[in-house]
Amino acid sequence: IPVASFDCVVFGATGDLTTRKLLPALYYRFRDGQIPNTSRIIGASRSELSAEAFRERARDALKRFVPAADLADETLSAFLAHLDYVAVDGAGEDGWSDLAEKLAERPDQVRPYYLATSPDLYGSICRNLAQHGLIGAKSRVVLEKPIGKDLKSARAINDAVGEVFPEEQIFRIDHYLGKETVQNLLALRFANTIFERLWTADVIDHVQITVAETVGVESRAGYYDTSGALRDMVQNHILQLLCLTAMESPLNLEANAVRDEKLKVLRALKPITAADVQTVTVRGQYVAGAVDGKPVEGYLADLGGQSRTETFVALKVEVQSWRWAGVPFYLRTGKRMPDKLSEIVVQFRASPFSIFPSEAFGREPNRLVIRLQPQEGMKLEVMTKDPGPGGMRLRPTNLDISFEETFKQRYPDAYERLLMDVVRGNATLFMRRDEVEAAWAWADGLLKAWADRPEPPRPYASGSWGPTASIALIERDGRTWHENW
Ligand code: BG6
Repeated sequence: IPVASFDCVVFGATGDLTTRKLLPALYYRFRDGQIPNTSRIIGASRSELSAEAFRERARDALKRFVPAADLADETLSAFLAHLDYVAVDGAGEDGWSDLAEKLAERPDQVRPYYLATSPDLYGSICRNLAQHGLIGAKSRVVLEKPIGKDLKSARAINDAVGEVFPEEQIFRIDHYLGKETVQNLLALRFANTIFERLWTADVIDHVQITVAETVGVESRAGYYDTSGALRDMVQNHILQLLCLTAMESPLNLEANAVRDEKLKVLRALKPITAADVQTVTVRGQYVAGAVDGKPVEGYLADLGGQSRTETFVALKVEVQSWRWAGVPFYLRTGKRMPDKLSEIVVQFRASPFSIFPSEAFGREPNRLVIRLQPQEGMKLEVMTKDPGPGGMRLRPTNLDISFEETFKQRYPDAYERLLMDVVRGNATLFMRRDEVEAAWAWADGLLKAWADRPEPPRPYASGSWGPTASIALIERDGRTWHENW
């Protein structure tokens, strides 16, 4: 279904996010007929480029980041014809009247302003938009993460943006919320009877959330070194996954109803303090090793300097509520791990008693594994009888749904869904100000605990599952990290 016609202004138009994610996402939505022909995508950045030169850059980007099979020449040229460009200084005065002039040509368009720039510029871009009369009822601003580096800076950004945009027009993106399986988690929990009945501390032993990447810091070492895994992945993506797993049923799917429930989870997170930081957290940093059979350098070599920034973190977290009392959530994320893999594992309690003889291995607990990537899907691990006349021997088997095989269609990238939601004005999959700030409030506590008990990050070889201390973190509780799919 086509969305309304729009003029989308992308600040940071020559940057990495635009090149890798935004242009390909817009291209696919155009190819599939969702973007009306009267729409424009206006790149904005400080570089002095002609519209033609910007289109050429976009052509190169699409050739790099969209598989050739999806790039018919005609469609590509038709898409590029919707691109325009204006040189604008986000922090200064230059270029704003040119942008205003362009936008004035079509005053009735829906107008998303996508800020794919450094967050330091969010305030000044928004002020400039207001000063030049560019904000109307159909305008929306999209903020990329990171929104700040702690609660204080997040508040400052939210204040600056909030001065000129009402909250309903602010779309704070967390691209994990646009992933199909993440949305499927809502369907799984709230459109089925069987799981929600079991979704309690009486039945669930613990939850694990793993987001592992094979890449290192690549070209982003400058940013990453000031951030680290906690700020880069946990404060946003992983806490959002935790929220969707742990929240109560929202009243409906309206943005505020869903966000109210997520906020309660964030507020129920038990603070991690200096007293327990050494038992419930592990920080790691990758050293040289091999990923996919290829030797790779360590973080310090990638960075070209000394650093105590963590590229891996494992945490044991508690949600203080009736539903989750006593159910630990084990979270881990890291760069340079053996696989790119994101999954949520809900492990149910072991059956209380076994009628099967012990040699029949009858006590594996049930697990529900929700796989975000790769091969999005879900599986439920259940005990079954080993076939054959060998007697009553048990083994775990999977009830397995691979979405791609089941639905036989391409899985859109998260940004495709989220960009179209911005145009539609649907904020359900975006974060509200209080959510971002609650997540920071909790993360700040942990950062402070680390600062109070300073320890260098533990080294782990690239291509391994993180420091051995992260295995000890869960094994100390008599549990283990879920082995691969
Ligand atoms: C980004 C982080 O938000 O998410 C990156 O800044 C990380 O460091 C990326 O690589 C992971 O996203 P995805 O969709 O590839 O899992």
